[in-house]
Amino acid sequence: MLIDSGVNLRIVQTNHIFFFFFFFFFFCGQNSKIVLFFFFVDQDELLWAAAWLHRATDDKSYLDYLGQAGNTGGARTEFSWDDKFVGAQVLVAKAEQFICSCIQKGNSNVKKTPGGLLWFLPFNNLQYTTTATLIATVYSEYLSPKRASIQCSGGIVQSSALLDLARSQVDYILGSNPNGMSYMVGFGSKYPTQVHHRGASIVSIKKDPSPVACQAGFDAWFNMNAPNPNVLDGAIVGGPNDSDGYTDSRSNFQMAEAATVNTAPLVGVLAKLA
Ligand SMILES: *[C@@H]1O[C@H](CO)[C@@H](O)[C@H](O)[C@H]1NC(C)=O
Repeated sequence: MLIDSGVNLRIVQTNHIFFFFFFFFFFCGQNSKIVLFFFFVDQDELLWAAAWLHRATDDKSYLDYLGQAGNTGGARTEFSWDDKFVGAQVLVAKAEQFICSCIQKGNSNVKKTPGGLLWFLPFNNLQYTTTATLIATVYSEYLSPKRASIQCSGGIVQSSALLDLARSQVDYILGSNPNGMSYMVGFGSKYPTQVHHRGASIVSIKKDPSPVACQAGFDAWFNMNAPNPNVLDGAIVGGPNDSDGYTDSRSNFQMAEAATVNTAPLVGVLAKLA
């Protein structure tokens, strides 16, 4: 990582909220569209950046920034692309409330489905499960060499229990669940066949070279009630609802959409468990 610490420090030392927006311009026949995406960089990202920059540079000013931060997030209910407080908290060993609630020994525990999946939100829930699983794994690694444990309000938690939690979540995602279905596409004998993903749901030009017209991606392919022509190996879908139910339908984007944020945390977890 190449770091211009002068520039980064200035960014990290201000408490202002940064605000980016991106333009996307779609031109499709009569249906031109401009879509604006807004991104905020707030306190969680500044702390996350400072924690990593301290690791990378050993520059004490980043640590001072973390120490002086008025808002370190407190007890969080998720770790995600839009809420990185838990990530920063782990880097400075302060994420224990979140971990206690994941392992069901906190004051306000994360919900579990009857089949045992950590369940946070209806829209693409597995993104939160995989990040929580990564946090449990990383924290177990952190505690283990020190033979340390976490004191939760519901009791003491050993590092081995955190790894057991991580393993249980990975087992569920890969098929040990009431549906007997792997939520990692291409893994096992039963997995989602209608992943909400344009590249996977439109046939390869190598198989069918006839042009796909502007709207045909929707008309001919999105709405086709058949398995995707391309298997999106390794993708993790949004996953089941809070009753372990899953509908394998491309239009059910809450359950069927795959995202890099779902899969990326599991890479670290599998590196530990495999
Ligand atoms: C969960 O999903 C299944 C399958 O789509 C559905 O039958 C069930 O009604 C859903 N349960 C809830 C509580 O939404």
